[in-house]
Amino acid sequence: MAEAAQPVTMDTIVSLCRRRGFVFPSSEIYGGLGSTYDYGHYGVLTKNNIRSLWFRAMVQERDDIVALDSAIILNPSVWEASGHVAGFTDPLVDCRTCKLRFRADQLEQANCGRKPSKRPGETPDCDLTEPRQFNLMFETHVGALRDESSAAYLRPETAQGIFINFKNVSQLARRKPPFGIAQVGKSFRNEITPGNFLFRVREFEQMEMEFFVPPADATRWYEYWVEARLGWYRNLGLRESNLRVREHGEDERSHYSSATSDIEYRYPIGWQELEGVANRGEFDLTQHTQHSGTKLEWIDPDGNRYTPHVVEPAVSIERIFVALLCDAYHEEVVGDRERVVLRLHPKVAPVKAAILPLVPRDEGMATRARALYEDLRRHHVVEHDDSGQIGRRYRRQDEIGTPWAFTVDEQTLEDETVTVRDRDSLAQERLPIAGVRAWLDDALERDWSSPQSD
Ligand code: GAP
Repeated sequence: MAEAAQPVTMDTIVSLCRRRGFVFPSSEIYGGLGSTYDYGHYGVLTKNNIRSLWFRAMVQERDDIVALDSAIILNPSVWEASGHVAGFTDPLVDCRTCKLRFRADQLEQANCGRKPSKRPGETPDCDLTEPRQFNLMFETHVGALRDESSAAYLRPETAQGIFINFKNVSQLARRKPPFGIAQVGKSFRNEITPGNFLFRVREFEQMEMEFFVPPADATRWYEYWVEARLGWYRNLGLRESNLRVREHGEDERSHYSSATSDIEYRYPIGWQELEGVANRGEFDLTQHTQHSGTKLEWIDPDGNRYTPHVVEPAVSIERIFVALLCDAYHEEVVGDRERVVLRLHPKVAPVKAAILPLVPRDEGMATRARALYEDLRRHHVVEHDDSGQIGRRYRRQDEIGTPWAFTVDEQTLEDETVTVRDRDSLAQERLPIAGVRAWLDDALERDWSSPQSD
């Protein structure tokens, strides 16, 4: 096998996602809408897998974290208290010449609209406005009246829905610090400079967990969560050379944070934040206590009252989705043919196995393949494919990252065995048809690490 040396580009991933129906630009028949995307069948399956793996690690396999699903539109006072109304802003500049809009703090990474090889402001024609603050929250109205009293916001993060439910959950779920509340759901930000495919979008699905701890333990838990989350990405098979932790400098941190580390991934656009882990201190519970008049505190068995500190790992499914696809994408030449293969962790792969009758018009093969498919689909997402040459069918599955293909062939008719083909090594072995289900269950539970070279 000849290895392809070129690192993957974002355009390659965008085109694979489109070609194979993972992701399409949204509202496409109307010309699209900046940086919004729709997920097709394989995209939905992949996102479901990412979400359930996160939920499993963060809630199902732990005794100290419970789930929550709060509303997207909250009382607007929540966003006053959280600091988002006053401070969830980006500095924005417009160029009067090329009419493009830039983030004033990211001009170094932007391209001039007229001369893309230059930065905005670098050419004599550039005519930039003074920076002004632009709030990223989307506004809406609740009820029939559209005036100031009915104004509300689409949530820009899921975290605040968790803080305002601290009392409900700590009492009703009978949890005491240290304990966490996890939430997955859509968040909305009117980003000034979205782009780079799903990396920065205006509508995304966040997975956040707020971990409430005694103040003296906050640093220890912060360090714990940085390591735990990094370990989760390693277990997903992301390559070590593409992962790193970067601690924020004091000037970089959000208003609420006393320490923040980004788990960064080396995307085709460079090292960027995949997930943030923040030590938010007592900021959020104190703010909501002051603004709502409801005490959000903990009383320990000795009667001591305190406001728990919060450690928060926060990420979007979109950033994980792009990182996994970039990490998994591989082009190689096998024999005299090129193949594109997505070496995804089997648990992330949208389809777990393909069932392929070698000669679809052969009734014995067709019947056995169909029966195997009917059996497996009750337990896993699998595909039956009987159209086209077998080589093409394998390539199709390679491109969507299907880890195994079970092929029903002439020998199956004689001894009731099938071949199983491994996506990564291309090795083939024979299995009794009756043992395929157990084999697949077992294979999906095995540890997996990327066969891609670093
Ligand atoms: N509650 C804290 C919070 O929301 P953040 O760093 O603004 O912190 C957390 O966002 C995570 O959400 C990021 O690490 C990233 O994974 C994801 N995220 C933020 N903005 C995004 C966007 N516009 N598009 C996709 N994902 C985004």
